[in-house]
Amino acid sequence: MTDIENAENYKQRIKHTRQAAESYTRRKQSKHDAEMSLIRSALDHLDGVETFLDAPCGTGRATIMLTRLGYRTTGVDLGDAAVAVAKQKVKEAGVVADIEKADLEHLPYDEDSFDATLCFRLYHHFPNDQIRRRAISALCRVSKKYVLISYFSPLSPTSVRRRLRASLFNKNSRQVATSLSSIKDLFHEQDYHLVKNIPQRRFLNTLHLAVFKADG
Ligand SMILES: C[S@@+](CC[C@H](N)C(=O)[O-])C[C@H]1O[C@@H](n2cnc3c(N)ncnc32)[C@H](O)[C@@H]1O
Repeated sequence: MTDIENAENYKQRIKHTRQAAESYTRRKQSKHDAEMSLIRSALDHLDGVETFLDAPCGTGRATIMLTRLGYRTTGVDLGDAAVAVAKQKVKEAGVVADIEKADLEHLPYDEDSFDATLCFRLYHHFPNDQIRRRAISALCRVSKKYVLISYFSPLSPTSVRRRLRASLFNKNSRQVATSLSSIKDLFHEQDYHLVKNIPQRRFLNTLHLAVFKADG
């Protein structure tokens, strides 16, 4: 798959239709619970955080959870339907959170607008370093202290299987695993350092959540 095809695939993942957005709210409960628990475990490593940006918020599940935990939270997503469903879910949950349409690569907020930013389950869709760098730079710019970012580890059995399949059948996965060291390098460029790297489950799991903190 070429870089251009990969980039097109990434844009196709944006949840513009109601059907695409709502399908995400029907994920397996155990998967959803494990992912929310992963985010909660990362919160233990934050200090002095009151405001959060959840980017992308999808249909608002992490925005709602963070708000319930007492953070003043804003959720953004580039998909029109994702934004509409997230607004509805926030209302149904009876919480107060801003939901806006925005491109994570070009966040429309001033520097240091939020104490922390969460970028959950999108990084593995970024097709190249140019987009990864732009996204990390945008997240760091609007964050005062922390950026929490999930990624797919290349060391998990699932990632190894995907790579094997790709090389045997010339069939690339749409999901890109990236090493923690490559992510650390991009954060170092923004004067952020790694505080904690948390796998969803020990050893075996593909999904990891890394907590980065602004230097100084
Ligand atoms: C896999 S979902 C994850 C959503 C949410 N973080 C969650 O875990 O429920 C990825 C979301 O990223 C959104 N998205 C894709 N590219 C984006 C971009 N450049 N800016 C903002 N949102 C984007 C999609 O519309 C989709 O809702």
